[in-house]
Amino acid sequence: MADELNIQTNISKQEKYELLIPQLTALVGGETSLVANLANVAAALRQTFGFFWVGFYLVDGDELVLGPFQGDVACTRIGFGKGVCGTAWKEKQTIIVPNVDEFPGHIACSSASKSEIVVPLVSNGKVIAVLDVDSHVLDDFDEEDKAGLEKIAILITPFFK
Ligand code: SME
Repeated sequence: MADELNIQTNISKQEKYELLIPQLTALVGGETSLVANLANVAAALRQTFGFFWVGFYLVDGDELVLGPFQGDVACTRIGFGKGVCGTAWKEKQTIIVPNVDEFPGHIACSSASKSEIVVPLVSNGKVIAVLDVDSHVLDDFDEEDKAGLEKIAILITPFFK
């Protein structure tokens, strides 16, 4: 298992996802610990794309609870249907928010976050966690991010047991 990512900086976002996904597959494939793998996925995404905040919220009863992340201190619990994360859980689909100030009920952990994408992790038809990525730039996420992050969500889901 490589302990370092090998991703050039002068390539497109799509090319970065294409290079990152096989390296992440190898990285998590060598480890069975859920916490270790979620932590490395968060770190790899932040390292590759420079996102402001990357992390996981894990389903705990009728709430999401903060899991491994990279970035500033964040709120620890989010209710079902609350904020962008709780809405992605409820709707069981990826949500792209170009401007967090325009999302009704957005939970602001940091005023530096301007746009956001939340991808649910689904196992046996149930959401078990969400992957939350925040940017300090408005309108920073598009269909390429959705496709790339959904692939990453699928590769990490089997580690939830
Ligand atoms: N903005 C999220 C809360 C989590 S923080 O962004 C890390 C939301 O509205 O669910």
